Amino acid sequence: MDLVNKTEKTFALTTPLYYVNDVPHVGSAYTTMAADAEARFRRLLGHEVLLITGTDEHGQKIERSAESLGKDPQEFCDEIVPSFINLWHLLNIQFDRFSRTTASRHEAIVKEFFQRVWEKGDIYQGQQKGWYCVSCEEYKEERELLEERRCPIHTNKEVEWRDEQNYFFRLSNYQAQLEEFYQSRPDFIQPESRRNEVLSFVSQGLQDFSISRVNVKWGFPVPVDPKHTLYVWFDALLAYVTALLEPDAEATLANALKNWWPINLHLIGKDILRFHAVYWPAMLMSAGLPLPEQVFGHGFLTKDGQKMGKSLGNTLDPVRLVQTYGSDAVRYYFLKEIEFGKDGDFNEVRFINVLNADLANDLGNLLNRTLNMVKKYCGSDGIPITNETINDDNPLRAIGLHLGEKVRQAYEALAFNQACEVALVLVRTSNKFIDEQAPWSLYKQGKQQEVETVLYAVLESVRLAAYLLSPVIPNISSAIYEQLGFGIDFNDQIKTSMLGSFATHSKWGILTSKQLLGKPQPVFKRIEAPKKD
Ligand code: MSP
Repeated sequence: MDLVNKTEKTFALTTPLYYVNDVPHVGSAYTTMAADAEARFRRLLGHEVLLITGTDEHGQKIERSAESLGKDPQEFCDEIVPSFINLWHLLNIQFDRFSRTTASRHEAIVKEFFQRVWEKGDIYQGQQKGWYCVSCEEYKEERELLEERRCPIHTNKEVEWRDEQNYFFRLSNYQAQLEEFYQSRPDFIQPESRRNEVLSFVSQGLQDFSISRVNVKWGFPVPVDPKHTLYVWFDALLAYVTALLEPDAEATLANALKNWWPINLHLIGKDILRFHAVYWPAMLMSAGLPLPEQVFGHGFLTKDGQKMGKSLGNTLDPVRLVQTYGSDAVRYYFLKEIEFGKDGDFNEVRFINVLNADLANDLGNLLNRTLNMVKKYCGSDGIPITNETINDDNPLRAIGLHLGEKVRQAYEALAFNQACEVALVLVRTSNKFIDEQAPWSLYKQGKQQEVETVLYAVLESVRLAAYLLSPVIPNISSAIYEQLGFGIDFNDQIKTSMLGSFATHSKWGILTSKQLLGKPQPVFKRIEAPKKD
């Protein structure tokens, strides 16, 4: 069956579908901010983008969380889901689909997919014995466990012994096919260190995994044997597919896969790599479907150097953070300060220092004082020169000419910290340049054309940096573009797409002669250090 009809110019990406056992923490926010920045960058490139996020609502973990509060599981999920949507709005996440695994159309997709795998002969009944971590929703090998049989990820939770009849998926059938696939698609798992982890895991030999549970009610019944409930991960991965359905389309695999499949990028944390990089492709191979293009496993966030977790009581509330500092600040810190793929730390003092240095001082102040100088030295008509009058040896122009390409490559590789860092190099060089050139004294010496050249070069550099940073700090970039006379809100997808191509706006030198500039206003207010009690 020819199910796929995807074009080059589309880009579909996903965040994990978050468990709703509790309100979102900063770890969930982290992946979603990264996904949104990548989606915004792809939209700048002119791609049609589909950003999928959502919630994973079935399984024993959720069943127990609801039970402990004396709630019906569906009611419990319905109460938690809005806290995710609310946080995404606060963080200025422009998601296109929110996939809930409890949606009725999802069940239809799961059934149809199960049927394909069943007909392929890849599902059989067997006995499952082993140690289960409910928080991971995963069986653990005895050798992985910590003292007192605690889970290595949920270190305060003991695993539970299970011995039950389950349905199994024949993962072992796909060993050779998977190995061949990883060889032929070296980019499939990123970064390289995660790819190596997966290759080493697979080379130890793949074992079939159970895809049903008998002691859990909260989930879809196994289509061929309703006494069993489908394993939460089998169900959840497929919600990526369900998310592709147009809102009014009938829930069939053919409809879901028509426009957006295969998904270009799954963004996940390193703890759920195996599910996405091994189980998921094998399930898709079994169902005869093309595989996603890439799985990127990012690192873990720590707080003040310690692993963040409820047991340590050091979780970071993303709602408080964004309400205190604003969405751009939070997005900027996590994307600029942490190398995506590596573990990274949050420390509030460092957070404040970085934002003040980069956004308030280097970027914000530079724009503000330069605009004020334009008013003072050039009058209200703006700067009467164009890019062509600026020599190639102008240091800002020299950096600016290649910056767009560098930043594009960084975003394409999900190296958000690098994208921000190289954009900031132009900003910092501009600060140095204006201080060295001292337009105030050039003006006094009557060197009007030199004054204009300096001011043009600096403003154009701020513009370029704002454009290239817009996937990360869309509100600040919009304020800068506004003050530079473009009247563009980077949060408005239609208007942004009408602004002109990435190729044009990512090049240095597009401010026009006498461009009508807006009123200078601070784009990012300096943060005062919180008072100690
Ligand atoms: N429901 C599954 C995913 C199913 S996808 C079909 C799940 N949910 S989760 O809510 O537990 O985790 C979601 C994501 O949050 C994972 O990618 C995980 O890595 C990430 N994080 C959880 N704690 C984290 C940190 N402290 N730091 C960074 N990310 C972390 O797993």
